[in-house]
Amino acid sequence: MSLIRKIKDYYKNSKSVLFTTPSHSQGNFIPSTAKDMLGEKFYKCDFSEIDGFDNLRAPEGILKRLQDKIAYIYGSKYSFMLTNGSTSGIIAAMLATLKEKDNVLIARNCHISVYNGLVLTGAKPIWFLPDYDEKWGIFKGITADIVKKHLDKNNNIKALIITSPTYEGVFSDINKISEICKVKGIVLIVDEAHGAILNFSKYKNKSALQQNADIVIHSLHKTAGAPNPCALIHISKNSKISPNKVQAALNLINTTSPSYALLTAIEASVLYLESAKGRKHINKLLEEIESFIKKLPKDIEIYNNDNDITKILIKSKSINAERFSELLNTQYNIEEEYTNKKSMLFITGIGTDKTKLNKLNKAIKNISQTTDIQEPEKNDNILQIDVPQALYTPREAFFLAKEITSKANAIGKISGETIMKYPPGIPILLPGETISKEIANEIENLEILTI
Ligand SMILES: Cc1ncc(COP(=O)(O)O)c(C=O)c1O
Repeated sequence: MSLIRKIKDYYKNSKSVLFTTPSHSQGNFIPSTAKDMLGEKFYKCDFSEIDGFDNLRAPEGILKRLQDKIAYIYGSKYSFMLTNGSTSGIIAAMLATLKEKDNVLIARNCHISVYNGLVLTGAKPIWFLPDYDEKWGIFKGITADIVKKHLDKNNNIKALIITSPTYEGVFSDINKISEICKVKGIVLIVDEAHGAILNFSKYKNKSALQQNADIVIHSLHKTAGAPNPCALIHISKNSKISPNKVQAALNLINTTSPSYALLTAIEASVLYLESAKGRKHINKLLEEIESFIKKLPKDIEIYNNDNDITKILIKSKSINAERFSELLNTQYNIEEEYTNKKSMLFITGIGTDKTKLNKLNKAIKNISQTTDIQEPEKNDNILQIDVPQALYTPREAFFLAKEITSKANAIGKISGETIMKYPPGIPILLPGETISKEIANEIENLEILTI
């Protein structure tokens, strides 16, 4: 029986009177403003672990069966539902596979949750910068050669953490990278937060789950239509990672009161993706994006590099990206995901329809036709600065005392703070790393905390 069915049955058939949390008593009390916004049903789905409703910390019943179904649908060995985002999945993957002082190779264009995982595990990061695409101002995918080069230089690597696809839809060569990792006994963790619908589309083979990564993490809220922060963590079929270890790690960091409303949303999203209707829906989305791309004016270039086109990355040949974005925002009320100095990123997902895409297309056409300001493109150097030298691991740095100093005085000292380029949230300087003159110069208007 599905979780949704079980909740419906409870209201239809159950005679039990609950003296349990949550205190709203299945919607018996709801503040009127919340009722207005969220509706009664949200509260009616909100249970604790009452009889028959299982326990997400040690699932044996209905939640276990739902997770098994999700594993079957995604083709994984084990899947776990997350009601605290990919952030919790990434941290749990690290806690399940790394311990203090373990070396972990990490592509620097990772999400900040990887840094949080380093503080919690005490593992030692060996960072590398992926190749940079100057034309678009984004990082390129990671090749097997890059991974080989870093593994040849560094011994005793326990795990490798890669983001694929990236925020901008760029894939890494997970197939070859996972082969290398398997030979060397390295755990491969892939942050596929942006790829929860890949498995149900023409990109299926690009998913790290089909390419033997050990652990893969998906945000269902980013592309698959679930609310924030529904997500999944999977152990792939050929992985030796122990599901018990992942469960123990999840239990260490997660609430003991997972939202059953979010669990029902996870069930509904995954079952929809798997259904014939869901697959058709995703195909249609891709077709509509292809048609959107075809209709773009000649002046607009689209990033086209075997990438996931649900992330639409474009640039104008004549108008600089920051100016273009300003016009879109102010004159057309269109907000993009982010704009860097070279390009603009528009994120689509299961809720994006033709009307929305047509509005964007029209606005882009109008701006291209009517604007003759041809400001030159600028360079963005900050993402290309070499990874700073680290004197402390993230965990050591986290617990050290810190003080505030001026930017001028900070040069040569050790950062006590994380400086990120946001979006996409890529770390430039992490606690424990040395503040070089080059970095201080690139960071504007900053008061730096030092340790
Ligand atoms: C690449 C990447 N990984 C992980 C995350 C965290 O995902 P969540 O919001 O589901 O915790 C994000 C969020 O922006 C992300 O962009």
